[in-house]
Amino acid sequence: MRLVPQKSIEKDPIEDSTYSRWKVLLVDDDPDIIAVTQLSLRSFEYKSLKLDIIIANSSSQARYLIEQHTDIAVMIIDIVMETDTSGLDLIEYIRNELNNKVSRIIVSTGQPGLAPERYVIDNYDIDNYLPKTNLTSQNLYVQLRLALKGYHDIYRLERYSKGLQRVLVQTPKLYHAGRQSESKFFKSLLSQLKVLCRINGHSGVLSLGLLIASITDNVGKIECAEGDFSYFRIDKDDPLNLFKAHEALRLGKHQSTKHTGHKNFIPLMIDDNVVALVYLESEPDLSEHDLAIMEVFVTQCASMLESFRLHNQHEDDYQQLINTMADIAEFKDRDTAAHINRMARYTEIIALEMGLSESTARAWGQASRLHDVGKMGIPDNILQKPGKLSDQEFDIMRTHTVIGASILGKIDRMGVAKDIALSHHEHWDGSGYPEGKLGDDIPLPSRIVGLVDVFDALINERCYKNPWPVEEAVDYLKLKKGNQFDPTVTEAFMRLYERGAITQIIGGV
Ligand code: C2E
Ligand code: SIN
Ligand code: SIN
Ligand code: FE
Repeated sequence: MRLVPQKSIEKDPIEDSTYSRWKVLLVDDDPDIIAVTQLSLRSFEYKSLKLDIIIANSSSQARYLIEQHTDIAVMIIDIVMETDTSGLDLIEYIRNELNNKVSRIIVSTGQPGLAPERYVIDNYDIDNYLPKTNLTSQNLYVQLRLALKGYHDIYRLERYSKGLQRVLVQTPKLYHAGRQSESKFFKSLLSQLKVLCRINGHSGVLSLGLLIASITDNVGKIECAEGDFSYFRIDKDDPLNLFKAHEALRLGKHQSTKHTGHKNFIPLMIDDNVVALVYLESEPDLSEHDLAIMEVFVTQCASMLESFRLHNQHEDDYQQLINTMADIAEFKDRDTAAHINRMARYTEIIALEMGLSESTARAWGQASRLHDVGKMGIPDNILQKPGKLSDQEFDIMRTHTVIGASILGKIDRMGVAKDIALSHHEHWDGSGYPEGKLGDDIPLPSRIVGLVDVFDALINERCYKNPWPVEEAVDYLKLKKGNQFDPTVTEAFMRLYERGAITQIIGGV
């Protein structure tokens, strides 16, 4: 990755009309010197721009002018003016008090004996020393040219680092979009790139076309397009020949940004694969500097995309693990997938109703699917007994809670699922099992699952009981509110029931 453009920029970077000349400040108390210097620099140009010469006849006037003009490229400063050291004092003021480190400074003096010591040159970042005895046009030309080049380079570096800073500011926004979906990620990347082009590039971008295609198994898909390309639609033909570009990029990996004319391809690489391609056209062209910043940004985005993909893969694996475990539990019990799904949905909407965040509610819903995973440790003759359990059998049945918790406790991320498995048969008044926990000591997700588990068991058939009418089950929950069930959870359930949300789930799955 090329961080700093190698070729110099053709056009001057300072596009703003207020910067269309190089500002040079001459500080000298000798009007003759000023006149000669001005004459020598009459037709001076650097990178096709002329000079804007500002004159100060004393160091105090210079201070005033420097405060007015914050964009002076080069200052040529006489040492001996009001005092023997007024020039040096002025330089000290510029560098240390105004904290201007960008303007280039050339020191001139008629008294070689008073020429600045080496330490002054070093400490105040002085570019050169110009003896008035040798004030030829040639000498002046060479020195001024060098100083302007120095200014130009420093200016570009500053601009470059500002561009990088902007990239860093954009990153969290993209991160947020990427957490939601890849398509949101690409859309957000596109709009961030647009912002970068407009702010970072030439102030007068006339036209801009941006397009992002994702590439999976060598098949490209247009994700989004903007500006001049906005008429391209997803899944259309590939009028931009993205695949040729892709191939070219694959063959010449190190030359990551490919520009032909003002067509630019910036790839998003994961390992050695191009996973997406940004295609960008602008009028006028973006400078290499601007493209280099985009490359840095896009490279960051590629690693972000990679981490999202890993994260999603991880999520999928986790989901699959939950489903597999729930399946195993079902295999032994008479549970159906429908019951498990209903449990997850009741749990989720109650959590939402109680003010928990969407992601927490979803996580609790998922975790609820495993509430009875411990039933895989219960013998079939007890689990499937058509009639009422004996006390001894019930003692064994109750152990499904601790068995479930011990299975889930072995997996780091299953904290909530473990709580639910362990405590979904605890009662608000402390009369439940396995620990006889009381009130708030029972984790909230367990209190929610404890209620919906009973509700769903009552309204459905079990090998030991017939289904109850829904209204009777609702009355049962009301009856047990405050002793078996957490009153707040019961109330949330009732509100949802009144609004029809519970009935929708009963009939829906
Ligand atoms: P499950 O069948 O899913 O029932 C979950 C909870 O719903 C029960 O927890 C209980 O609180 C409630 N519930 C279910 N049916 C009824 C009912 O007819 N009346 C009332 N008042 N509540 C009911 P519990 O009692 O701790 O039982 C846990 C699990 O033990 C049950 O899960 C079921 O698998 C098993 N089980 C409980 N009683 C019997 C039974 O008499 N025979 C058999 N074969 N299994 C039973
Ligand atoms: C079922 O509804 O059959 C299983 C739920 C439970 O036993 O808690
Ligand atoms: C989840 O993170 O999706 C479930 C929460 C848990 O069981 O820890
Ligand atoms: Fe249970």
